[in-house]
Amino acid sequence: MGIDIAAVREDTPGCRAVIHLNNAGASLPPQVVLDTVVSYLEEEARVGGYELADRRAEHLAEVYRSVAGLISADANEIALVDSATRAWDMAFYSLRFERGDRILTTTTEYAANFIAYLQVAERTGARIEVVPDTAAGEIDVAALETMIDESVKLISINHVPTNGGVVNPAAAVGEIARRYGITYLLDACQSVGQMPIDVGEIGCDLLSATSRKFLRGPRGVGFLYVRGSLVEELQPPMLDLHAATWVGADRFEIRNDAKRFETWESSAALRLGLGAACDYAMSIGLDVIWDRVGSLAATLRAALEAIPGVTVHDKGSIKSGIVTFSVVDRPAGSVRDELAAQGINVSVSTAASTRIDMEQRGLDEIVRASVHYFNTEAELDAATAVVAQLA
Ligand SMILES: Cc1ncc(COP(=O)(O)O)c(C=O)c1O
Repeated sequence: MGIDIAAVREDTPGCRAVIHLNNAGASLPPQVVLDTVVSYLEEEARVGGYELADRRAEHLAEVYRSVAGLISADANEIALVDSATRAWDMAFYSLRFERGDRILTTTTEYAANFIAYLQVAERTGARIEVVPDTAAGEIDVAALETMIDESVKLISINHVPTNGGVVNPAAAVGEIARRYGITYLLDACQSVGQMPIDVGEIGCDLLSATSRKFLRGPRGVGFLYVRGSLVEELQPPMLDLHAATWVGADRFEIRNDAKRFETWESSAALRLGLGAACDYAMSIGLDVIWDRVGSLAATLRAALEAIPGVTVHDKGSIKSGIVTFSVVDRPAGSVRDELAAQGINVSVSTAASTRIDMEQRGLDEIVRASVHYFNTEAELDAATAVVAQLA
């Protein structure tokens, strides 16, 4: 069964106010997410933060089950943190590297991740190697395999980059990681919520994601998946009294589930909002979401490509809901602003976010229009008409 578009738009207050094509930035939450967050904050103000968290402990525990359900993991394998970057950092900085160890990554790696590689390379003498892309534009799995030897300590890739439509073949990479026994970290920040994700099928050890993008949850919360068998091998780079217990004057014990990567302080309201967003996405169905996102994105790409003076930049044999383009002789920021003036949200992606790929393609900045299942063909027509006037 398809999605009842009228119903999901009715559920989304933002749909009445804007044409939102910035779902890769932060999507519009459905009413249930908004109500969950706001009602919790209101109750917190009435009864006290600690007191309400105690009362709602079971509901808060349910969030782990919702997140785990979304990616076919176990609740004990989930850590809730502030953002996708913090999730990713907690995983990456738990790994130990020595001089000569190699980290294999993608051309489209997100800046925050690459900065961390560079810092660790500087500190340890580990080497970062970028796996080339296929002609179609996704990570070249055959090339990846030729790069593997015993010095490779980590394969760390993004599933969907911030700056374009490509979907990297995460499961094919996972198959190689498993075969050679190499730790595999997947940045799923842009894929979670727009497509089905199954960590078992993908074969990743670690996966990071956020709430606010295609998952349609609130800002300020994200999550990390850590494969159960790996949890106790990884010492988080930072610990607090939730991640560990001070058991004797000179001793501490780290907890044995993925919560070792969390901090004690957190926003219960945002966590519950994340749980509501997972439940909402699953109630619609990730398969149908993915079908609709793919078809809307293809429609938008085709419409933009038909406009003289517009270049669509997306690569990949399989493409996501992220559509990127430029308009001849127009800075990306001015295209974004002209669209914003007509009530249409898009964003700009610059070379500083995905430097390797953007430099390889000679791009400084591109306009990013990211669709979600609640968008309509009429909204895409409206956006395309504005772009046509600018070209
Ligand atoms: C591919 C990718 N990874 C990681 C991040 C970082 O997410 P966050 O801002 O939640 O830390 C982003 C944000 O745009 C992203 O696009």
